[in-house]
Amino acid sequence: MQQSEIQDKIAILIEEIELANKEYYIEENSSISDFDYDKKFKKLLDLAAKFPNLITPDSPTQRVGNTPSSQFNQVSHQTPMLSLSNVFNFEELKDWIKRTTKITGENIFPLVCELKIDGLAVSIKYQNGSLVEASTRGNGSIGEDITNNIRTINSIPLRIASSENKKYDNFEARGEVYFPISKFNLFNQERLKQGLNIYSNPRNSSSGSVRQLDPKETAKRPINIFFYSLLGSDGKEITNSHLRSLKILRDIGLRTEKNFKKINSFTELKDFINYWNNSRQNLDYGTDGIVIKVDSIKLQKTLGNTGRTPRWATAFKFPPEVVETKLNKINFNVGRTGVLTPWAELEPVFIDGVKISRATLHNKDEIQRKDLRENDLVEIQRAGEVIPQILRVSKNNVRSMYSKEFSFPMKCPEPCNSTLFSDPNEVSVICISSSCPNKLERLLQYFTSKNCMDIEGLGNKICSILFKKNIIVSLDDIYKLNEKKDELLNIEGFGDLRINNLLLSIENSKNKPFSSLLTALGIDGVGVEIAELITKKIQTLKKLKEQIQTPEKLKEILIDIDGVGPIVAGNFLKWTNQKSNINLIDSFLELEISNEIEKIIHKTNNLENKIFVITGSFENLKRNDIGDLIKNNGGKVVNKVSKNTDYLILGENAGSKLLDAQNNNIKIINIEDLKILIPELGSQIS
Ligand code: IVH
Repeated sequence: MQQSEIQDKIAILIEEIELANKEYYIEENSSISDFDYDKKFKKLLDLAAKFPNLITPDSPTQRVGNTPSSQFNQVSHQTPMLSLSNVFNFEELKDWIKRTTKITGENIFPLVCELKIDGLAVSIKYQNGSLVEASTRGNGSIGEDITNNIRTINSIPLRIASSENKKYDNFEARGEVYFPISKFNLFNQERLKQGLNIYSNPRNSSSGSVRQLDPKETAKRPINIFFYSLLGSDGKEITNSHLRSLKILRDIGLRTEKNFKKINSFTELKDFINYWNNSRQNLDYGTDGIVIKVDSIKLQKTLGNTGRTPRWATAFKFPPEVVETKLNKINFNVGRTGVLTPWAELEPVFIDGVKISRATLHNKDEIQRKDLRENDLVEIQRAGEVIPQILRVSKNNVRSMYSKEFSFPMKCPEPCNSTLFSDPNEVSVICISSSCPNKLERLLQYFTSKNCMDIEGLGNKICSILFKKNIIVSLDDIYKLNEKKDELLNIEGFGDLRINNLLLSIENSKNKPFSSLLTALGIDGVGVEIAELITKKIQTLKKLKEQIQTPEKLKEILIDIDGVGPIVAGNFLKWTNQKSNINLIDSFLELEISNEIEKIIHKTNNLENKIFVITGSFENLKRNDIGDLIKNNGGKVVNKVSKNTDYLILGENAGSKLLDAQNNNIKIINIEDLKILIPELGSQIS
C-alpha cells in the first residue's frame, strides 16, 4: 500500500471513531455497535504501531480515557489505570500468545481467564485496614474522587476485618462496579412510575450511579462490585501470582467474580471462551468478553505496558448478541425540521439484559433495502449504547399471503395530516407544513433543552403535555405562562411550588445569550457552533430584526462567515422570510428575551487567532463562561492541548491538560493574566 493510501485509511478511521465518540459521549446515541467501534479502534492501533510517523497527536489512539469531570475532586493514580487491548477471534488470540511468548522468551502459561465485567472501573485504597479513598479511572492518570459514593456499596468493607491479615492492611484494590441486570430492570420500572428518565443499559447506570454528586442518590441504587486486581500501597504487587492475588482479595472480604480460571493450554483457553460466549446470558451481570492475563507477576513485569495497555493481558471480545423477534409495526417520528424518521415497534425481547421494544429504521431506503415488512420475524442487535438496530429479516421468517411490501405514508402522521414532500434525489421525506403540530411539539422540546434556552422543569414530557393541552402553542407562549397559572394548576403533579420554580427558570432563561436563542429557533443546520459564529457578526436579536429588512445584505453577511455555507445561509433566509417567524422575533423583542446581553458583552479582537485550552475549576466562574469571553474577543477555545495551542488557562485541581501543556511548552496563564490580555473585561471577571 502506498503511503497516501495508508494516510487516507488512517484519516477515515479517525473520522469514524471521532464521530462515534461524539455520538456516544455527547449525543448519547451511537450508530455503531461497541463491537464495531472496538474493531475500528484496533485497526487504527495496528496502523499506528506500523506507521507511527503517520499518526498525529489528535488521533484517538493518543487519548487514554475520559477527562475527569471537574464536579469531583481529582485523585491521581500512583500506578496508572490502564485499559486493555482487544482480540476478536482465535487467530488474533494466537498472535497475541505468539507475541508475548517471543518477548519473554518463556512459556507464558499458565494464564488466568476472568469474565470482563461491563461496568465502571474503580480503584479503592485501604490504609491501616480502613477504606480511605475511592476513585474512577478518569483519564488513567487522574480520576474522580468518589469515596463517599463507594462507601454506600454494602458489599465493600469499610474496614478489613481480620487481624490475621494484618499484612494486607495497606493496599489498593481495583475492580468493576456493575448494576445487576435483574435489579436494573426493576429500577427502571420504578423510575418510569415516578416520571423520571430511564437508564439505557446496566453499564451506563453503574457509571451514572457511582458518579452522583449526592452519595444519598448512589445509596438508592443497588450497585455492586467485583475486584480483579490488588496492589501494595506503594504500587508494587503483593504476590508473585495473579491467581494468588484474586484469592487474597476474596480472603480479605473483597468480592471477586467466581468464574475465573487458571488455563494451561490454548485448547483450554478456547473452551473457556466458547463456554462463556454461550452461557453469558445466564449471568446477572453484563460481560462483553474474557480478560486473559499472564499469571506470573515476574513475566508481567518483563512484558510491561505499551502507552495505554499492558502487554501481559488482553480482552477477547464477544461478538454482539443477535436476537430474533417480531416487527409488529412501523411508526414514524417527525423531527423539528419536519424530517420523518421511521422506527420499528418490536415484540419485546431482552438483549444483554436490556428490554428492547423499539429499533431505529433510519430512513425509507433502509426499509426498502432490507425489505422489512410488518409482522416479519427479524434479527436485531444492540448498536452501541442506546438504539437497537434491525440487521435483517430472519431466515426463519415465514410471510403470510397478506404480507406486502412496506410503503412510506403520503401524509404526515396525526394530527397534522399534511401531504409529505419527498425529493427523488434524497432519502428523506419531509413535512413542509409550517403549522405541523408534530414539528412544533419537537421544536418546543428542542427550544427548552440544555444546549438551547435550558429551561429546567420544561423537559420533553411536560412540553408535550402543555402543547397537547394548547397551553403552549407557539414558542413565545412559554414566556406568557405566568398568565396561565390556573391552567397549570389543573395539570396532574403541578402545585404552587412546582409552578413557581418553573416560572423562575423561564424568567432566568431570558438572560441566555443571543447565540442560545438563535440555536433554540431550530433553523435547519444552525446548531450551537454555527449560532455562535453568526452571533459574532449579528450580535443581538434587535440587529437580526434590522438585517432581515435587507435579505440580500443578510445573505452576504452570512456567506461571509467562515463555517457558514450556502445551504445553511439559504435555510436561514428561508426562515427569516416567513411572516410567522418575524412575528416571533417581534414577540421575543417585546418580552425582552436575550436582551440584556448587548449591554454587557465586550467584543474586541484582542484574542484574534489565539487558541486557548481551559483546565480546572474557577471560583465564581464556569468554564463555559470563560470560553464565551474568549470567543467574544476573537479567540478560539479547544478541548485538547496541541502544539498549536497558544495558552492554557489554569484553574484549581487541573487535570492532565496541565502536563500536556508543560510537555508542549505552552504558555500557562491564570484568570488574572486573561484580564491583562482583554483589559476591556474589567468588571466582567471579578
Ligand atoms: S484488568 C491493566 N480485569 O475492562 C489491566 N479489567 O478495557 C486492566 N474490566 O478499564 C484491567 N473486567 O474497567 C480487568 N476482570 C477484569 C475486568 C476488567 C472488566 C474493565 C476495566 C478496564 C477495562 C479495560
